[in-house]
Order: sequence, then structure tokens, then C-alpha cells
Amino acid sequence: MKHPSFQDHVVYQIYPRSYQDSNGDGIGDIKGIISRLDHIKDLGATAIWLSPVFESPMEDNGYDISDYYKIDPLFGTNEDMDELIKECDKRGLKLILDMVLNHTSDQHKWFKEAKKSKDNPYRDFYIWRKEPNDMIATFGGSMWEYSKETDEYYFHMFAPAQPDLNWHNEALRNEMYKMMNFWLDKGVYGFRLDVIENLGKEPDNKICSNGPTLHSIIHDISKHTFGPRDSITIGEAWGSNSQNRYLYTDPEREELSMIFLFDHFTRFYSDKYGKWQLKPFDMPSLRNAFFDHQTGDPNKNWDTIFWNNHDLPRAVSRYVDPNYRKDGAKMLFASTLFMRGTPFIYQGDEIGMANAHFPSKNDYRDVESINAFSDLVKDGLSAEEAFNGIAAVSRDNARIPMQWEAQENFGFTKGTPWLKGSIDDYAWTVEEEAKDPTSILSFYKEALGIWHDEKYRAIIRDGSFLPHYDDSRHLMAYQRVLNDKKLVVIANFSNEEIIKPITEGDVILRNLEHEENVMKPYEIIVTYVG
Ligand code: GLC
Ligand code: CA
Repeated sequence: MKHPSFQDHVVYQIYPRSYQDSNGDGIGDIKGIISRLDHIKDLGATAIWLSPVFESPMEDNGYDISDYYKIDPLFGTNEDMDELIKECDKRGLKLILDMVLNHTSDQHKWFKEAKKSKDNPYRDFYIWRKEPNDMIATFGGSMWEYSKETDEYYFHMFAPAQPDLNWHNEALRNEMYKMMNFWLDKGVYGFRLDVIENLGKEPDNKICSNGPTLHSIIHDISKHTFGPRDSITIGEAWGSNSQNRYLYTDPEREELSMIFLFDHFTRFYSDKYGKWQLKPFDMPSLRNAFFDHQTGDPNKNWDTIFWNNHDLPRAVSRYVDPNYRKDGAKMLFASTLFMRGTPFIYQGDEIGMANAHFPSKNDYRDVESINAFSDLVKDGLSAEEAFNGIAAVSRDNARIPMQWEAQENFGFTKGTPWLKGSIDDYAWTVEEEAKDPTSILSFYKEALGIWHDEKYRAIIRDGSFLPHYDDSRHLMAYQRVLNDKKLVVIANFSNEEIIKPITEGDVILRNLEHEENVMKPYEIIVTYVG
């Protein structure tokens, strides 16, 4: 069966600031990434999603871009970027850039022009009103910021330093197409599209995500940039769901390859405090989030399969009893790996990295977390409750430096890391885990070897998805079936020993070796019937 090339990739996400520092300034950079490409290759990933490295004042760590054509000096030079593309190519790795199309930095030349006067040619690249409404920004405060030069307010969904762009302006669109083609022409495979669902916004009607013009905008972007090329595109879509996802992903609509939905996380938000006070983990609800995605119309959708990214707390800290971190980290990865879609691995997951465990609120660096402290206290939480909320879900949990080697700062930097490191001992490093055949890292390699194996590739890509034991309180289990062959995945998401369900076929992957007729805590077994 003919299928698009993107369906055979495993994507590894790099948060450049925290991956590898090469010059001792405590901040990861492109030269550092180049020095670690072999790790990604050996792991079994075939593509890299690089969080933004463009010029930026770094109010939101690069998600506030001031020049889309220039690499920020903190990360290196444009030549370093060319080198990275070349070095990826040498190893058969594809490179995916993170494109922030919804907003720029307030230091972008367009915005500096736009705010000067109402008749400036760039004025309409942004959104201006005489009167603000009561919309509240994702990072706190009003979505409208007063600009004294022209006595009007501009719109920003995130920080005031991230003014939103007006995608209904033709000239803006053309600028963006030109810029995206510039990077595609350099050999980049595609884009992860930041908060893409907001481009069709209508602030006067208080609509941000999934606005009425959204899909014609995305369709146009595709047509003028990546659409005609062999490419991959992944849209970030927090406010979308398994019903409207087809609008982005149905191949006939010529929009995106796939989108990130977040309902495995957002379904645990509390009513009053959202993510800052998550409801207790409930296995059937978590399972439903994944199964809901898998059981839709396969011709109209291709899923993203991920637990973590740079905005989420580490899944191993959320879903696994700390006494079983090693077994649980393996189980989590393999439990969803055999679903239909593109697997994403966030840096550090492959060695079981966990949440930050910072002792003080002053250790946090993320703009969202810092603002949340004061807002949560204002909204009625005690200082301690607010701290616990931040500690559990702060984006900094995923942003602590990568743990490479058994030496100071885990080999991430020779200087002082920009963000404190974890409290782990050196066993949790790439260096140590690479030597240990029972490590999480070794398990990831083994599992990805199976994922790529020709023998199973077609079932994993095209097989139908059948929920299995879906009345269980503790199991995530499913079958993938293609003609007379099948894969069966059974994972125990609890710290309890449970009666072993009936398994059939040959065991091709498991995280624990024993002969007992039980599923141990966090055990996973994958079998093949062929
Ligand atoms: C996305 C990014 C996040 C960023 C926000 C604003 O959600 O993943 O890190 O803060 O967009 O650009
Ligand atoms: Ca550096």
C-alpha cells in the first residue's frame, strides 16, 4: 500500500536550551546538538523536532521570535544551522523546525514599525483596538496591552511581549510563505506549527481557537509552502478534539500531516484552577483519551503518539509510583508505541528523567510558572498549595538540563546551567544506561528496533486498532490486526500485582523477566501472532 513518507518516522524532540552546551555559557546550543546526533541516531529516532532557535529576546525561551531568518547568537550562527542540516542528512535524520506563526516578539521589526502609527504599512500585521475586552491571556493578565504611541491596545494571547499576528492580512501571509520556503529550500523536512489552531481568531467575538477562517488559512499556507513537497507537518492544537481533528488531518483537505491533541492531560484539569490543580489520576479515563484517538476514521486521520514535551510535566512522575520508576518508564513508552501514528520522544524520556523537584519557587524560570504563583494565590490558594501546583506541572519540569554523563552538571555544561539540574544520581544518565542492558535506554532501543522492523511495520502502520480488556481498572491493552497477523499489547498501569490475562503468540517485547502467572507492577508484554 502506498503511504506518505512521514508515516515511517519516529520523532525526537530537542529543547535546545537544555540539551548540550558547547561553550560553557550554561545554555545549550546548536554545536552541542551536533555533538549529540549519534545518540539520537543510535536510539532509533529518524527525525528531530527542534524547538525554536531563531533570534529572540527569550521572554518565552524562543517562542517569541524577533527574526525568523536568523539563528539567535545564544544558540549559534546561521552557519551552525547549515552544519546541523548537513550533519543530520549524513546520518539519515530529518530536521523539523518549530514555527511560531501565531505571534512574534514585540522586538520584531514588523511590530516596532506597527506600533509607530496607525497608517504604518505594518500596522495591520497585528491586531489593534480602541477598547479592550475582558479576555485573559494564557500567561496571566489581559489579552490586550496598551500602546501609548497610538493610544490603542494590541492583542496578545500569551505574554505582552508576544503580540498576535493578523492572518487576515495578505502581505503578512506572503511574508510568512517566503520565510517558510526559505527554510524548506535549505533541506528542512517540515514544521511543528506552534498553537496553529489560533490563526483564524476573532477577538471581537472572543474566539481564539478554531475560528471560522482557520482552515482556509492553513490550506493556503500548505498550498504555498510544504504542501507540494515531501514533508511532515504537526500542528499544536490544545483546544481541538477527536471530532474536529479531521478538519486538519483529512488528506483530501490538504492541510497538515497530523496534530497534537492534549486530552490525555487536559481531562484531569480541575474546574477552578485548571492544570495547576490536577484531578487524581484515573486509569480508565487516561486510556479513553488514547483509545478515542485510535478508534476514529483511519482514512481521515493520522495520530501523534506522545507523553511529554517541553510544556508538560514528565509522565513518569505523574503516572508511575516513584518506587517503580525504571519499570514504569519502560512500560509507558511501549504502552502507546504500537498505536497507529507517529511516536514522539521528548529529550530525556529515553533515560527516564523525572520532574525537577526544586526546593524553592525562586528556582523556576518559566514565565508561565512565575506568573501563576501570584495569580493562584490571588485566586484563593495558600502559598503552599500554589507551590505544590507549580511543582507538579510547571513547564520547567521538562526543561531541566539533559543528563548525559556521570560528572558535574551531568556533562550538560562546563559552566553554570541556566536552570537547576535534577536531584538524580548518576545512574540516570545516557553514559551509565548505555552500558546496562536492562536500562530504560536499552529498552527504548529494543522497542524502536521492533517498530522499524519490516516484519511488523505494516501492522503498526496500517493495522486496525482493537481495544482489549477495556473494562479493566489497571490495564491499557489493545490489538493491532492486519489480515491474519496481529500484535497484542498488555500493560499494567498500577503498582499492584494482578492476575495475568490470557496472552497468545510469541513474546516480542517485555520489561520484566519472570515465570509467574501474574502481571507485576508496571509490567508490559507485547506479543505477535503471525
Ligand atoms: C506553545 C509552545 C509553548 C509556548 C506557546 C506560545 O504552546 O509549545 O512553549 O509558550 O506556544 O508560543
Ligand atoms: Ca552555549
